[in-house]
Amino acid sequence: MALAVIRMTDLDLRGKRVLIREDLNVPVKDGRVTSAARIRAALPTLQAALEAGARVLVVSHLGRPKAGKPDPASSLAPVAVRLGELLGRPVPLIVRWLDGVDVAPGELVLCENVRFEKGEEEDDDKLARRMAKLCDVFVMDAFGTAHRAQASTNGVARHAPVACAGPLLVAELEALAAALDEPKRPLMAIIGGSKVSTKMEVLQALSAKVDELILGGGIANTVLAASGANVGKSLYELDQVPFAKRLLAGEFGEAELPLPTDVVVATSLDASARGRVKRARDVASDEMILDIGPETAAAYQRRIGRAGTIVWNGPVGVFEHPEFAAGTRRVADAVAASEAFSIAGGGDTLAAIEQFKVGDRISYVSTGGGAFLEFLEGKKLPAVATLEERARSAQG
Ligand code: 3PG
Ligand code: MG
Repeated sequence: MALAVIRMTDLDLRGKRVLIREDLNVPVKDGRVTSAARIRAALPTLQAALEAGARVLVVSHLGRPKAGKPDPASSLAPVAVRLGELLGRPVPLIVRWLDGVDVAPGELVLCENVRFEKGEEEDDDKLARRMAKLCDVFVMDAFGTAHRAQASTNGVARHAPVACAGPLLVAELEALAAALDEPKRPLMAIIGGSKVSTKMEVLQALSAKVDELILGGGIANTVLAASGANVGKSLYELDQVPFAKRLLAGEFGEAELPLPTDVVVATSLDASARGRVKRARDVASDEMILDIGPETAAAYQRRIGRAGTIVWNGPVGVFEHPEFAAGTRRVADAVAASEAFSIAGGGDTLAAIEQFKVGDRISYVSTGGGAFLEFLEGKKLPAVATLEERARSAQG
């Protein structure tokens, strides 16, 4: 179904006060941005608004600070610096912005962390109205936060004179729709990560939707345990074994669920840890599974090579440690080499894609983590639903 929202690119922004919600929630260490991926993804939207002659106010959250107590550790100051470098112009950071900011046409300012404001996370209507008063046009572009109904992602869109979707949000939604609505088959999902409990709904939904479901990390370990294998000291969730058994039994859908036949194990995960390849059934009680083995990686590579569409979230091993990186590297290389339409999302997945330098060979790299998963679950993202409502009432 076509995306029924007003698009920023269809509006005349000249001289307008344009409030753009981005997701600039990036990792910061010692006052510096350590991965600018989300800032880069927002650049085309911001540049387009500037070139159109808009007076641009950018809003974002960073981390999960306590409202009402501006904590310097969660300040957007490092983001303002990095954004300024990437835009090639200084970006002023406005601390008190809710009472109004004077911005000249073709100029841009960044508002301080929106989660410092009381009522943001509760989608408080008063706060949303104050934000709406700051603009002629509200642009929702924060795909990564589109699963949160908060004042700056949702409430403001109800009250702003015009509320539209920014180019990044549109691109994200269109890429996901291309992968899931009428996918070229076989449709494959690769879901890794440490916990089944945080991905139960997505595993359930994908089982019914995809042709093949490849699992990694603690999720795969839990499913291996459910299949009767001893997983030793591996990261897994005992209380999710019953769910994993239902998944294996095909209770949620027909997806093929290939399990690792060999794994890389070690008895510790410190810098000097050495991996050993073992049959998946022969893991000893003092060992941890930390990666898929070479036979499994080869089997997954063959499957990935045959896929028509690939959705990827989560690594298949502890790829940050060189001893246990091979499985995730081989998966990343196979996705990159594949002709399939491929879409990847989630913080760890993005880090793996950066580490193995395959980003330019993945069809679409999403900025979303939680939002990406909720979309895969088939959930309607609340911020998108609100934009659709506004588009409907603007029409009728
Ligand atoms: C994310 O990083 O997933 C988004 O920025 C949303 O952040 P949140 O989980 O703190 O709402
Ligand atoms: Mg490719």
